[in-house]
Amino acid sequence: MSRSLKRLLVAGGAGFIGSSFVRHLRRSRPGVEITVLDKLTYAGNLANLRDVEGSDGYRFVHGDICDVGVVDKLAAEADAIVNFAAETHVDRSLMDPYAFIDTDVRGTAVLCEAARKHEHEVFLLISTDEVYGEVLDGRSAETDGFRPRSPYSASKAAGEHIASAYAESFGLPLLVTRGSNTYGPYQYPEKLIPVLITNAIDGMPLPLYKDGTAVRDFLFVEDHCRAIEHVLVEAPVGTVYNVGTGAETTGLQVAEAVLDIMGKPRSLIEFVADRPGHDYRYALDTSRITALGWEPRVTFAEGLESTVRWYQQNEDWWRALKSGEYWDYYRRNYRPLVS
Ligand code: NAD
Ligand code: DAU
Repeated sequence: MSRSLKRLLVAGGAGFIGSSFVRHLRRSRPGVEITVLDKLTYAGNLANLRDVEGSDGYRFVHGDICDVGVVDKLAAEADAIVNFAAETHVDRSLMDPYAFIDTDVRGTAVLCEAARKHEHEVFLLISTDEVYGEVLDGRSAETDGFRPRSPYSASKAAGEHIASAYAESFGLPLLVTRGSNTYGPYQYPEKLIPVLITNAIDGMPLPLYKDGTAVRDFLFVEDHCRAIEHVLVEAPVGTVYNVGTGAETTGLQVAEAVLDIMGKPRSLIEFVADRPGHDYRYALDTSRITALGWEPRVTFAEGLESTVRWYQQNEDWWRALKSGEYWDYYRRNYRPLVS
Protein backbone atom coordinates (compact mmCIF):
# COMPACT_ATOMS: atom_id res chain seq x y z
CA MET A 1 0.00 0.00 0.00
CA SER A 2 1.02 3.62 -0.31
CA ARG A 3 -0.95 6.28 1.54
CA SER A 4 -0.98 9.69 -0.15
CA LEU A 5 -0.40 12.42 2.41
CA LYS A 6 -1.99 15.82 1.77
CA ARG A 7 -2.49 17.94 4.91
CA LEU A 8 -0.45 16.87 7.93
CA LEU A 9 -0.66 18.26 11.47
CA VAL A 10 2.70 17.73 13.20
CA ALA A 11 2.33 18.18 16.96
CA GLY A 12 5.61 18.90 18.76
CA GLY A 13 7.33 19.78 15.49
CA ALA A 14 9.65 22.37 17.08
CA GLY A 15 11.48 19.79 19.19
CA PHE A 16 14.45 17.60 18.30
CA ILE A 17 12.92 14.71 16.31
CA GLY A 18 9.79 16.60 15.20
CA SER A 19 11.78 19.41 13.56
CA SER A 20 14.09 16.89 11.91
CA PHE A 21 11.01 15.08 10.58
CA VAL A 22 9.56 18.34 9.20
CA ARG A 23 12.84 19.22 7.46
CA HIS A 24 13.03 15.66 6.10
CA LEU A 25 9.44 15.63 4.78
CA ARG A 26 9.83 19.02 3.10
CA ARG A 27 12.69 17.49 1.09
CA SER A 28 11.15 14.07 0.42
CA ARG A 29 7.51 15.13 -0.14
CA PRO A 30 7.36 18.89 -0.83
CA GLY A 31 3.71 18.60 -1.91
CA VAL A 32 2.52 17.68 1.61
CA GLU A 33 1.06 20.67 3.48
CA ILE A 34 2.47 20.80 7.02
CA THR A 35 1.11 22.60 10.07
CA VAL A 36 3.33 22.44 13.14
CA LEU A 37 1.57 22.86 16.49
CA ASP A 38 4.00 23.37 19.36
CA LYS A 39 3.80 24.87 22.85
CA LEU A 40 7.46 25.95 22.72
CA THR A 41 8.36 24.57 26.13
CA TYR A 42 12.02 24.83 27.19
CA ALA A 43 12.65 21.99 24.67
CA GLY A 44 10.82 23.59 21.74
CA ASN A 45 12.77 26.03 19.62
CA LEU A 46 11.79 27.94 16.48
CA ALA A 47 15.46 28.02 15.49
CA ASN A 48 15.06 24.28 14.76
CA LEU A 49 12.60 25.16 11.99
CA ARG A 50 14.38 28.14 10.41
CA ASP A 51 15.26 26.05 7.29
CA VAL A 52 11.57 25.58 6.42
CA GLU A 53 10.19 28.91 7.65
CA GLY A 54 8.45 30.83 4.86
CA SER A 55 8.29 27.83 2.49
CA ASP A 56 5.05 27.14 0.57
CA GLY A 57 2.64 24.78 2.32
CA TYR A 58 4.23 25.19 5.77
CA ARG A 59 2.93 27.08 8.79
CA PHE A 60 3.68 27.21 12.51
CA VAL A 61 1.02 27.56 15.21
CA HIS A 62 2.01 28.28 18.81
CA GLY A 63 -0.27 26.25 21.08
CA ASP A 64 -0.81 23.39 23.50
CA ILE A 65 -2.03 19.91 22.52
CA CYS A 66 -4.09 19.96 25.73
CA ASP A 67 -6.10 22.93 24.35
CA VAL A 68 -9.23 21.32 22.88
CA GLY A 69 -10.26 24.44 20.92
CA VAL A 70 -6.92 24.93 19.17
CA VAL A 71 -6.49 21.23 18.41
CA ASP A 72 -10.04 20.87 17.08
CA LYS A 73 -9.63 23.82 14.71
CA LEU A 74 -6.32 22.57 13.31
CA ALA A 75 -7.54 18.97 13.05
CA ALA A 76 -10.50 20.19 10.95
CA GLU A 77 -7.94 21.50 8.43
CA ALA A 78 -5.86 18.28 8.27
CA ASP A 79 -6.21 14.66 7.11
CA ALA A 80 -3.64 13.13 9.46
CA ILE A 81 -1.76 13.83 12.69
CA VAL A 82 1.72 12.79 13.74
CA ASN A 83 2.23 13.37 17.46
CA PHE A 84 5.77 14.12 18.65
CA ALA A 85 4.60 16.52 21.38
CA ALA A 86 5.65 15.28 24.80
CA GLU A 87 7.67 15.99 27.88
CA THR A 88 10.61 13.72 27.08
CA HIS A 89 13.42 13.80 29.63
CA VAL A 90 13.46 10.97 32.19
CA ASP A 91 15.44 12.97 34.78
CA ARG A 92 12.98 15.87 34.64
CA SER A 93 10.08 13.41 35.02
CA LEU A 94 11.55 12.50 38.42
CA MET A 95 11.36 16.18 39.43
CA ASP A 96 7.98 17.20 37.91
CA PRO A 97 5.83 14.18 36.95
CA TYR A 98 2.58 16.15 36.51
CA ALA A 99 3.85 17.98 33.41
CA PHE A 100 4.42 14.55 31.81
CA ILE A 101 0.96 13.30 32.72
CA ASP A 102 -0.67 16.48 31.37
CA THR A 103 1.00 16.42 27.96
CA ASP A 104 1.89 12.79 27.33
CA VAL A 105 -1.45 11.40 28.53
CA ARG A 106 -4.15 14.10 28.37
CA GLY A 107 -2.61 15.84 25.36
CA THR A 108 -2.54 12.55 23.47
CA ALA A 109 -6.22 12.03 24.32
CA VAL A 110 -7.14 15.49 23.02
CA LEU A 111 -5.39 14.74 19.70
CA CYS A 112 -7.07 11.31 19.44
CA GLU A 113 -10.49 12.86 20.01
CA ALA A 114 -9.92 15.49 17.31
CA ALA A 115 -8.61 12.91 14.80
CA ARG A 116 -11.66 10.73 15.47
CA LYS A 117 -14.13 13.63 15.19
CA HIS A 118 -12.68 14.86 11.89
CA GLU A 119 -12.40 11.33 10.45
CA HIS A 120 -8.68 11.47 9.78
CA GLU A 121 -7.04 8.97 7.48
CA VAL A 122 -4.36 8.12 10.05
CA PHE A 123 -3.10 9.06 13.54
CA LEU A 124 0.57 8.26 14.18
CA LEU A 125 1.72 8.30 17.80
CA ILE A 126 5.47 8.60 18.30
CA SER A 127 6.17 6.37 21.27
CA THR A 128 9.30 4.88 22.80
CA ASP A 129 11.08 1.61 23.61
CA GLU A 130 10.94 2.76 27.26
CA VAL A 131 7.32 1.54 27.55
CA TYR A 132 8.69 -2.06 27.77
CA GLY A 133 10.76 -1.13 30.82
CA GLU A 134 14.22 -2.46 31.56
CA VAL A 135 15.07 -5.56 29.47
CA LEU A 136 18.19 -7.24 30.84
CA ASP A 137 17.95 -10.28 28.51
CA GLY A 138 16.47 -10.83 25.06
CA ARG A 139 14.63 -8.30 22.92
CA SER A 140 11.20 -6.67 23.17
CA ALA A 141 8.64 -7.55 20.50
CA GLU A 142 5.68 -5.30 19.73
CA THR A 143 3.36 -7.88 21.34
CA ASP A 144 5.17 -7.71 24.71
CA GLY A 145 3.45 -6.07 27.67
CA PHE A 146 4.39 -2.70 29.19
CA ARG A 147 6.49 -2.45 32.38
CA PRO A 148 7.38 1.28 32.54
CA ARG A 149 9.53 2.31 35.51
CA SER A 150 9.78 6.13 35.34
CA PRO A 151 7.07 8.83 35.33
CA TYR A 152 8.17 9.57 31.73
CA SER A 153 7.82 6.02 30.43
CA ALA A 154 4.62 5.45 32.44
CA SER A 155 3.12 8.59 30.86
CA LYS A 156 4.12 7.45 27.37
CA ALA A 157 2.66 3.99 28.06
CA ALA A 158 -0.57 5.59 29.33
CA GLY A 159 -0.75 7.76 26.18
CA GLU A 160 -0.44 4.61 24.10
CA HIS A 161 -3.21 2.92 26.09
CA ILE A 162 -5.50 5.91 25.49
CA ALA A 163 -4.76 5.87 21.75
CA SER A 164 -5.35 2.14 21.42
CA ALA A 165 -8.60 2.51 23.40
CA TYR A 166 -9.68 5.10 20.80
CA ALA A 167 -8.78 2.62 18.06
CA GLU A 168 -10.77 -0.20 19.71
CA SER A 169 -13.77 1.87 20.82
CA PHE A 170 -14.12 4.45 18.05
CA GLY A 171 -12.17 3.02 15.09
CA LEU A 172 -9.34 5.58 15.28
CA PRO A 173 -6.93 4.64 12.43
CA LEU A 174 -3.92 4.31 14.72
CA LEU A 175 -0.26 3.68 14.00
CA VAL A 176 2.44 3.63 16.69
CA THR A 177 6.23 3.70 16.45
CA ARG A 178 8.37 2.76 19.46
CA GLY A 179 11.78 4.25 18.74
CA SER A 180 15.03 3.71 20.59
CA ASN A 181 17.35 6.42 21.99
CA THR A 182 17.72 8.98 19.22
CA TYR A 183 20.61 11.42 18.74
CA GLY A 184 21.86 13.95 16.19
CA PRO A 185 21.83 17.69 15.43
CA TYR A 186 19.40 20.00 17.28
CA GLN A 187 19.02 17.73 20.36
CA TYR A 188 18.48 19.77 23.53
CA PRO A 189 21.65 19.55 25.64
CA GLU A 190 20.10 17.67 28.60
CA LYS A 191 20.18 14.22 26.93
CA LEU A 192 23.32 12.07 27.21
CA ILE A 193 25.04 12.68 23.87
CA PRO A 194 24.64 16.49 23.66
CA VAL A 195 25.57 16.81 27.36
CA LEU A 196 28.78 14.88 26.70
CA ILE A 197 29.65 16.78 23.51
CA THR A 198 28.92 20.30 24.75
CA ASN A 199 30.65 19.69 28.11
CA ALA A 200 33.69 18.30 26.28
CA ILE A 201 33.83 21.40 24.05
CA ASP A 202 33.98 23.52 27.23
CA GLY A 203 36.45 21.21 29.03
CA MET A 204 33.79 20.41 31.69
CA PRO A 205 33.40 16.96 33.32
CA LEU A 206 31.38 14.40 31.32
CA PRO A 207 28.85 13.03 33.89
CA LEU A 208 28.02 9.31 33.75
CA TYR A 209 25.49 7.80 36.14
CA LYS A 210 27.01 5.28 38.57
CA ASP A 211 29.55 3.39 36.40
CA GLY A 212 28.45 4.21 32.83
CA THR A 213 27.44 0.59 32.10
CA ALA A 214 23.81 1.22 31.12
CA VAL A 215 23.16 0.17 27.52
CA ARG A 216 21.16 1.95 24.84
CA ASP A 217 20.44 1.31 21.13
CA PHE A 218 21.46 4.71 19.72
CA LEU A 219 19.52 5.61 16.55
CA PHE A 220 20.57 8.47 14.27
CA VAL A 221 17.74 11.01 13.98
CA GLU A 222 17.58 10.96 10.18
CA ASP A 223 17.13 7.16 10.26
CA HIS A 224 14.36 7.55 12.86
CA CYS A 225 12.61 10.15 10.67
CA ARG A 226 12.81 7.92 7.59
CA ALA A 227 11.22 5.13 9.65
CA ILE A 228 8.38 7.43 10.75
CA GLU A 229 7.75 8.52 7.15
CA HIS A 230 7.84 4.90 5.97
CA VAL A 231 5.30 3.80 8.58
CA LEU A 232 3.09 6.82 7.87
CA VAL A 233 2.95 6.02 4.17
CA GLU A 234 3.27 2.23 3.97
CA ALA A 235 1.89 0.64 7.15
CA PRO A 236 -1.59 -0.84 7.54
CA VAL A 237 -3.51 0.96 10.27
CA GLY A 238 -3.72 -0.75 13.63
CA THR A 239 -0.03 -1.70 13.68
CA VAL A 240 2.81 -0.93 16.11
CA TYR A 241 6.47 -0.83 14.99
CA ASN A 242 9.67 -0.99 17.00
CA VAL A 243 12.38 1.24 15.50
CA GLY A 244 16.04 0.65 16.34
CA THR A 245 19.39 -0.50 15.01
CA GLY A 246 20.03 -3.63 17.11
CA ALA A 247 23.45 -2.32 18.21
CA GLU A 248 24.16 -1.92 21.94
CA THR A 249 26.45 0.76 23.37
CA THR A 250 27.18 1.72 26.98
CA GLY A 251 27.32 5.30 28.22
CA LEU A 252 31.02 4.83 28.96
CA GLN A 253 31.68 3.76 25.35
CA VAL A 254 29.82 6.86 24.12
CA ALA A 255 31.82 9.19 26.39
CA GLU A 256 35.13 7.64 25.33
CA ALA A 257 34.19 7.88 21.64
CA VAL A 258 33.20 11.56 22.00
CA LEU A 259 36.53 12.37 23.69
CA ASP A 260 38.48 10.40 21.06
CA ILE A 261 36.75 12.22 18.18
CA MET A 262 37.54 15.57 19.82
CA GLY A 263 41.09 14.64 20.87
CA LYS A 264 40.29 15.33 24.56
CA PRO A 265 41.53 13.34 27.60
CA ARG A 266 39.45 10.55 29.09
CA SER A 267 40.14 12.05 32.52
CA LEU A 268 37.19 14.38 31.79
CA ILE A 269 34.82 11.46 32.53
CA GLU A 270 33.20 11.78 35.96
CA PHE A 271 31.00 9.13 37.58
CA VAL A 272 28.06 10.68 39.45
CA ALA A 273 25.11 9.46 41.53
CA ASP A 274 22.78 7.13 39.65
CA ARG A 275 19.40 8.05 38.16
CA PRO A 276 16.69 6.65 40.51
CA GLY A 277 14.93 3.71 38.84
CA HIS A 278 17.56 3.71 36.07
CA ASP A 279 16.76 1.24 33.26
CA TYR A 280 20.08 -0.45 32.47
CA ARG A 281 19.13 -1.90 29.09
CA TYR A 282 16.52 -1.62 26.34
CA ALA A 283 16.70 -3.85 23.26
CA LEU A 284 14.22 -4.16 20.41
CA ASP A 285 13.22 -6.89 18.00
CA THR A 286 12.94 -4.84 14.79
CA SER A 287 11.93 -7.64 12.40
CA ARG A 288 8.47 -6.14 11.83
CA ILE A 289 9.69 -2.78 10.50
CA THR A 290 12.50 -4.36 8.46
CA ALA A 291 9.85 -6.61 6.83
CA LEU A 292 7.95 -3.39 5.97
CA GLY A 293 11.04 -2.20 4.07
CA TRP A 294 12.95 0.12 6.46
CA GLU A 295 16.44 -0.31 7.80
CA PRO A 296 18.95 2.08 9.40
CA ARG A 297 21.64 3.54 7.12
CA VAL A 298 23.93 5.37 9.56
CA THR A 299 26.33 3.45 11.83
CA PHE A 300 26.88 4.75 15.36
CA ALA A 301 30.48 5.72 14.51
CA GLU A 302 29.34 7.79 11.49
CA GLY A 303 26.38 9.36 13.29
CA LEU A 304 28.39 10.28 16.38
CA GLU A 305 31.21 11.86 14.36
CA SER A 306 28.78 13.99 12.33
CA THR A 307 26.88 14.97 15.50
CA VAL A 308 30.09 16.07 17.25
CA ARG A 309 31.00 18.17 14.18
CA TRP A 310 27.51 19.73 14.13
CA TYR A 311 27.75 20.84 17.78
CA GLN A 312 31.27 22.17 17.17
CA GLN A 313 30.00 24.20 14.20
CA ASN A 314 26.74 25.40 15.78
CA GLU A 315 27.81 26.78 19.15
CA ASP A 316 25.34 29.71 18.87
CA TRP A 317 22.45 27.23 18.81
CA TRP A 318 23.32 25.35 22.02
CA ARG A 319 25.03 28.14 24.01
CA ALA A 320 21.73 30.07 23.92
CA LEU A 321 20.09 27.05 25.61
CA LYS A 322 22.74 26.41 28.27
CA SER A 323 21.84 29.37 30.48
CA GLY A 324 19.50 30.34 33.35
CA GLU A 325 16.98 27.55 34.01
CA TYR A 326 19.30 25.03 32.38
CA TRP A 327 21.93 25.41 35.09
CA ASP A 328 19.26 25.29 37.85
CA TYR A 329 18.16 21.94 36.43
CA TYR A 330 21.77 20.79 36.00
CA ARG A 331 22.70 21.55 39.61
CA ARG A 332 19.58 19.77 40.87
CA ASN A 333 20.14 16.71 38.71
CA TYR A 334 23.82 15.91 39.10
CA ARG A 335 24.96 14.76 42.53
CA PRO A 336 28.29 13.30 43.61
CA LEU A 337 28.73 9.53 43.57
CA VAL A 338 28.69 8.16 47.13
CA SER A 339 30.03 4.60 47.15
P1 NAD B 1 11.83 17.15 22.59
O1 NAD B 1 11.73 17.26 24.07
O2 NAD B 1 13.07 17.60 21.90
O3 NAD B 1 10.61 17.93 21.91
C1 NAD B 1 9.29 17.87 22.39
C2 NAD B 1 8.51 18.96 21.70
O4 NAD B 1 7.15 18.88 22.15
C3 NAD B 1 9.01 20.38 22.00
O5 NAD B 1 9.05 21.14 20.82
C4 NAD B 1 7.96 20.93 22.96
O6 NAD B 1 7.83 22.33 22.89
C5 NAD B 1 6.72 20.21 22.45
N1 NAD B 1 5.67 20.13 23.48
C6 NAD B 1 5.81 19.69 24.76
N2 NAD B 1 4.62 19.78 25.39
C7 NAD B 1 3.72 20.24 24.48
C8 NAD B 1 2.34 20.52 24.53
N3 NAD B 1 1.63 20.34 25.65
N4 NAD B 1 1.74 20.97 23.41
C9 NAD B 1 2.45 21.16 22.26
N5 NAD B 1 3.77 20.93 22.16
C10 NAD B 1 4.39 20.47 23.26
O7 NAD B 1 11.52 15.63 22.27
P2 NAD B 1 12.10 14.62 21.17
O8 NAD B 1 13.32 14.00 21.72
O9 NAD B 1 12.13 15.30 19.86
O10 NAD B 1 10.96 13.51 21.19
C11 NAD B 1 9.83 13.63 20.32
C12 NAD B 1 8.90 12.45 20.55
O11 NAD B 1 9.62 11.24 20.28
C13 NAD B 1 8.39 12.31 21.97
O12 NAD B 1 7.05 11.89 21.92
C14 NAD B 1 9.28 11.24 22.60
O13 NAD B 1 8.59 10.55 23.62
C15 NAD B 1 9.54 10.35 21.39
N6 NAD B 1 10.82 9.61 21.41
C16 NAD B 1 11.99 10.27 21.65
C17 NAD B 1 13.18 9.56 21.59
C18 NAD B 1 14.52 10.21 21.87
O14 NAD B 1 15.50 9.50 22.09
N7 NAD B 1 14.63 11.53 21.86
C19 NAD B 1 13.17 8.19 21.27
C20 NAD B 1 11.95 7.57 21.02
C21 NAD B 1 10.77 8.30 21.09
O1 DAU C 1 14.94 5.04 24.41
C1 DAU C 1 14.14 6.11 24.00
C2 DAU C 1 14.24 7.23 24.99
O2 DAU C 1 15.59 7.70 24.91
C3 DAU C 1 13.26 8.36 24.73
O3 DAU C 1 11.96 7.88 24.89
C4 DAU C 1 13.51 9.53 25.70
O4 DAU C 1 12.67 10.62 25.37
C5 DAU C 1 14.96 9.97 25.56
O5 DAU C 1 15.25 10.99 26.50
C6 DAU C 1 15.88 8.79 25.76
O6 DAU C 1 15.82 8.33 27.15
P1 DAU C 1 17.16 7.81 27.89
O7 DAU C 1 16.90 7.74 29.32
O8 DAU C 1 17.67 6.59 27.21
O9 DAU C 1 18.16 9.00 27.46
P2 DAU C 1 19.22 9.89 28.26
O10 DAU C 1 20.00 10.63 27.24
O11 DAU C 1 18.57 10.66 29.35
O12 DAU C 1 20.15 8.78 28.94
C7 DAU C 1 20.82 7.81 28.14
C8 DAU C 1 21.65 6.93 29.07
O13 DAU C 1 22.75 7.68 29.57
C9 DAU C 1 20.91 6.40 30.28
O14 DAU C 1 21.44 5.13 30.62
C10 DAU C 1 21.26 7.41 31.38
C11 DAU C 1 22.67 7.80 31.01
N1 DAU C 1 23.06 9.20 31.32
C12 DAU C 1 22.26 10.20 30.92
C13 DAU C 1 22.61 11.52 31.16
C14 DAU C 1 21.71 12.65 30.74
C15 DAU C 1 24.26 9.44 31.97
O15 DAU C 1 25.01 8.51 32.33
N2 DAU C 1 24.62 10.75 32.21
C16 DAU C 1 23.84 11.79 31.84
O16 DAU C 1 24.20 12.95 32.08
